[in-house]
Amino acid sequence: MKRYKPVQRYPRTDLSEIVTTHLQADWRRPIAAHSIAAFDTIRDRIEASTQPLIIDSCCGTGDSTRHLAGAFPDSLVLGVDKSAHRLARHRMGEQGDYLMLRADVNDFWRLAVDAGWRPARHYLLYPNPYPKASQIRKRWYASPAFPALLGLGGILTVRANWKLYVEEFVHALGVAGFTATMQKLAAESPITGFERKYLERGNELFEMVCDLEIVSDGLGKLR
Ligand SMILES: C[S@@+](CC[C@H](N)C(=O)[O-])C[C@H]1O[C@@H](n2cnc3c(N)ncnc32)[C@H](O)[C@@H]1O
Repeated sequence: MKRYKPVQRYPRTDLSEIVTTHLQADWRRPIAAHSIAAFDTIRDRIEASTQPLIIDSCCGTGDSTRHLAGAFPDSLVLGVDKSAHRLARHRMGEQGDYLMLRADVNDFWRLAVDAGWRPARHYLLYPNPYPKASQIRKRWYASPAFPALLGLGGILTVRANWKLYVEEFVHALGVAGFTATMQKLAAESPITGFERKYLERGNELFEMVCDLEIVSDGLGKLR
C-alpha cells in the first residue's frame, strides 16, 4: 500500500540552519549548456534596454507577465518558466514590453547575477509549494538557489495559497538579513492562472514583499 507523507503543518525548526548553510556555501552544480544558450538568446535585448527590468520567475502560462507589462508600461518584463508546455499556452498581449524565456531558474538566476543584472522588481507567483516536510529543500527559500535569488536584488514579491510557505519565506529572508512584509491578499481580479483557480476555490491567498536592496542585519551582510 502506498503511504502518503503528511503536509507540513508547522515551520521547520531547522529552517535557519538550512538557509545559513546555503548562504555560506558556493553552489557548485554546473550550469547546463542549454541554460546558457537560452540566456544568450535574450541577453543582448535585456542589456541594450534602458528600461527598468522586471523578472517574472516561474511565470507558467505568462498571464502575470502580460499583466505586469501592462501595469508597468515603462519597464521591460521578462517571464521565465521551464515548462515549454505552459509557455506554449501563453496569450500575447498588446500592452507593454515583454519577453518570455524557457529556462530553469536554478541556472537562469545564477547567469543573471553573474551578468550583473539588477531587476527593479522580481515576481515569484505561486511557486510549487512542495508541501511535505521532507521536501523543504525543494522550496526556493530553502534551496541552494536562494543566494542567487537574493543576489538579483530588487523588490521581491511572492504569492502563495499556503500561509506556511510565505511565513517560512519571510523567516528565510530574515536569516539572510532582509525584512519582508506579509499580508493576506484581498480578493481581486486574478493575474495568474493559478491565482484564478485558487480564488474560484475560495482559497485564502498570501503575499510577501521584500526590498532586497535593503539589508538590515544577518547573513545578507556577507554579500
Ligand atoms: C504552480 S505553477 C505557477 C505558475 C504561474 N506563476 C501561475 O501562478 O499561474 C509553478 C510554475 O513554476 C515552474 N517552475 C518550477 N520549477 C521551475 C524551475 N526550476 N525553473 C523555471 N520554472 C519552474 C513550473 O513550470 C510552473 O509553471
